[in-house]
Amino acid sequence: MVAVAILAAGRGTRMKSSLPKVLHDLGGRSLVERVLGSLSGVAIDRCFVIVGYQSEFVRETLQSFPDLEFVEQAQQLGTGHAIQQILPHLQGYSGDLLVLNGDVPLLRAETLKNLLQTHQSHQNAATLLTAHLSQPKGYGRVFCDDQNRVEEIIEDRDCTPPQRQNQRVNAGIYCFRWADLERVLPQLQPNNDQQEYYLTDVVRDLSPVMAVDVEDFQEILGINDRKQLSAAAKILQTRLKDDWMAAGVTLIDPESITIDDTVTLEPDVVIEPQTHLRGNTTIAGGSRIGPGSLIENSQIGERVTVLYSVITDSVVQAGTSVGPYAHLRGHAQVGAECRVGNFVELKNSTLGDRTNVAHLSYLGDTTTGERVNIGAGTITANYDGVRKHKTKIGDRTKTGSNSVLVAPVTLGADVNIAAGSVVTENVPDDCLVIARARQVLKPGWRLKHSAD
Ligand code: UD1
Ligand code: CA
Repeated sequence: MVAVAILAAGRGTRMKSSLPKVLHDLGGRSLVERVLGSLSGVAIDRCFVIVGYQSEFVRETLQSFPDLEFVEQAQQLGTGHAIQQILPHLQGYSGDLLVLNGDVPLLRAETLKNLLQTHQSHQNAATLLTAHLSQPKGYGRVFCDDQNRVEEIIEDRDCTPPQRQNQRVNAGIYCFRWADLERVLPQLQPNNDQQEYYLTDVVRDLSPVMAVDVEDFQEILGINDRKQLSAAAKILQTRLKDDWMAAGVTLIDPESITIDDTVTLEPDVVIEPQTHLRGNTTIAGGSRIGPGSLIENSQIGERVTVLYSVITDSVVQAGTSVGPYAHLRGHAQVGAECRVGNFVELKNSTLGDRTNVAHLSYLGDTTTGERVNIGAGTITANYDGVRKHKTKIGDRTKTGSNSVLVAPVTLGADVNIAAGSVVTENVPDDCLVIARARQVLKPGWRLKHSAD
C-alpha cells in the first residue's frame, strides 16, 4: 500500500507574490499540478494534499484531479508539522507514505517508481532522494555514514561552514514506512534557526534510512524564487523540445521557440525561430510555422504555412497559407488550400476551400463558400454599435478592392462587386453590383479656379 502526501501549505515568501507559491505557472500548469503529474503511472492508494495559505484557491485549482484528500494546516509551522496533520487520517495504516514537496515540479514518474522500489526491496524505514549539486545553496545537506545510511539532514541555514561544503542535498522527496514515521513524528522539536518543525529531523530517529541519488539532478530542483522558476521553465522547454525533435519535428533555433506541453506536433512539422505554441494546439505533418508566429488553442492541418502571424482559438485546414501578418481569432475556420495574406484579420469567420483573402481585409462573423476571392481592403462592417451581424458570401463570388459589406447581408454565388462599393442589401446569384457614386468629370476646372 502506498499513500502520498504533497506539501502545499506554504506561502512561498521568497516569491514575493500574493499567489501561493505552488500555484505559480510553469509552462502552462501550476507547480502543484506538475507535482501531481509526476505521479502518473505510479500505483497509489490515497493522496493527501496539505493546504494552508489560500487553501481555497489551491483546492479549486486541483478540482479536476479525482480522489484527492485535502488536509488543512492552519498555521505553517514547518514541513514536519505539515505531515503531522495527516496523523489522524492514517491511524492503523500499515503501508508506505511517499512525501512530495509541492515546489519540486520537474520529477519524472520513473524516478518515483525507482524510489518506491528501492525503499520496499531494502525494507527501509525511510528512503530519500538526493543529488550532488555544484551550487547546493538553500538545500538541506544530507550526511551519511560509510554505508550510505543517512545520519542526519541539516538545513543550509543551520549548517556550520564546513557542513555547508557538503554538496549532497535533500530533494524533499521521501518514502517512509508509515508505522515508523507515525511513532517519531510527534516527537519533533523546533530546535533550529527558523524555529520550525522540520520533517527532515525524523531521520535521526529512524533506521535504516537510505539515500538514493537521482540520475538527472535537474529533476530535484526546488522553486523558491522567480529566478528558480524561470530556470525550471527553461529545463522543461529543453526536455520538451528534445522529445519533439526525437519524434521527427524540426525546430530551427530551438532556444528562441517556446512550446507548451499541451501542444501536439506530427512528424515533419517545421517550427521556425521566434515562434510560440500554446494551449491545446495541434499541428499536422508537413506544416511550416514561423518565423515570428504565435499559435494558441488552434488546430492546424497538413502542409499549412504560417508566417509572422497570430492564430488563436481557430482551425486552419490542409494546404492553406497564412500571413505574413495575419490575425485569426475567435473561432476562425479556414478551409483547405486557402490563402489568408498580408494584414488580414479573421474573427469568428468560416472560409470555404480555395478561398483567398489576400490583402488588408477584416472579415468578422462571416461565412464564405468555396473559391471566393475577397479583394484587397474588403471590410465587413459587422458591428452597428450595439450588436454584431452576419455576412454570407456564396461560392466563387469576388469582392472588389475596398468594398464594404454592411451586415447583416447575404451575397449569392458568382457575384461580382465593383471596387469601392458599399453593399447594404442582399445580392442574388450571378450579379454584378456597383454600389458607389458615379465618377463626375469637370474639364478645365483647375484653370477657372486658380487664376493666380
Ligand atoms: C525543504 C527541505 C530541504 C530540502 C528542500 C528541497 C525541510 C525542513 N527542508 O526546504 O531539506 O533540501 O525542501 O526543495 O523540509 N510547506 C508546508 N507547510 C509548512 C512549510 C512548508 O506545506 O509549514 C510546504 C511548502 O509549501 C513547500 C514545501 O513544503 O511546497 C517545502 O517548503 P519550503 O519552505 O520551500 O522548504 P525548503 O526551505 O525549500
Ligand atoms: Ca523549497
